[in-house]
Amino acid sequence: MKTVQEIVMQQTFSRDDLVVLLNTEGEERTQLFSVAAARKEDVVGRKVFFRGLIEFSNICSKDCLYCGIRKSNDKVVRYDATDEEILEACRFAWQNRFGSVVLQSGELSSPVFVERVDGLLKAIKKLSNGELGITLSCGEQSRETYRRWFESGAHRYLLRIESSTPELYAKIHPNNDHHSFEKRLNCLSLLKECGYQVGTGVMIGLPFQTLENLADDLLFLKKIDVDMVGMGPYIEHEETPLYEHRYLLKSKQERFDLALKMVAALRLLLPDINIAAATALQAIDPAGREKALKIGANVIMPNLTPCSYRKEYQLYEDKPCLDEDADLCKNCLEARIELAGSEIGYGEWGDSRHFFSRG
Ligand code: 5AD
Ligand code: FES
Repeated sequence: MKTVQEIVMQQTFSRDDLVVLLNTEGEERTQLFSVAAARKEDVVGRKVFFRGLIEFSNICSKDCLYCGIRKSNDKVVRYDATDEEILEACRFAWQNRFGSVVLQSGELSSPVFVERVDGLLKAIKKLSNGELGITLSCGEQSRETYRRWFESGAHRYLLRIESSTPELYAKIHPNNDHHSFEKRLNCLSLLKECGYQVGTGVMIGLPFQTLENLADDLLFLKKIDVDMVGMGPYIEHEETPLYEHRYLLKSKQERFDLALKMVAALRLLLPDINIAAATALQAIDPAGREKALKIGANVIMPNLTPCSYRKEYQLYEDKPCLDEDADLCKNCLEARIELAGSEIGYGEWGDSRHFFSRG
């Protein structure tokens, strides 16, 4: 049997190797973290990039069994930020030299929605003289929509696969055409075809999920040759169907630890991609995102959603920063990132290095 020390020095990893890494504790885990930290510094450097996150609408046509803003949760007050509010948040990002923004929403695909996003993209480009990079995270769309948004200025897109194991995917989504694993996979290839830098990711510590499933997730990320990854711990939400399986869950701390090991293992597996320090880490540990930055992540998404809407964008419980305004978030973040030994890449898009080297 190989030792952790041997595995972390490899260039390629088998499923068994990855399971060993995900099982590390104590000194071996420290070893994994320190090799991943060194790899990050060697390959992508010490810079952390800011993406100002704007959760502009919580109206969603889907019913994912884990998500707090699922269509069937009638306890959520639905909102749709106005264009002016969204543009104001973008202006804040630009004036504070965040290199880019992420526009995220529930999943809708009506012509009105598609048109609206299109108009916003053009307006954001205009207000920032083309300087702000724009990432979209608006779910599954048609090839035409993805193409149109790309042409209007979006250049990165986030669409998590949630789990790359089809059986597990089926357990955490309703069993209908609107929640198809195949469709989601296909969207990832459409995005790539349209020219986006493509980001995906998974939830870690789901009920029914094994370490082998997570190792397969890592191998999946390599196989589809992603440019960016965002992945964080699953956090149960009382108003969702998956809550009834909470007895199967590892403790929050264990899910948190596992998420950090996933980030470190991913940095070894795909050294030149962008890895986000997921907000869900912060819901478990106030310094969670900084811990991820130390061991492999290089992107952070400060929340710029207007405060009045934040409590209605609770994908999971204990979502942090519910009542901080954008300024406060930024200032405290800055200090914490520097404490974590990183520098902030102000004014840069911070594109994935991998994107420019892939074929
Ligand atoms: N716990 C953790 N992450 C969640 N997401 C949705 N619901 C939860 C939850 N209960 C994540 C999904 C989605 C992203 C926007 O938020 O991975 O893709
Ligand atoms: Fe909205 Fe999953 S519940 S996309």
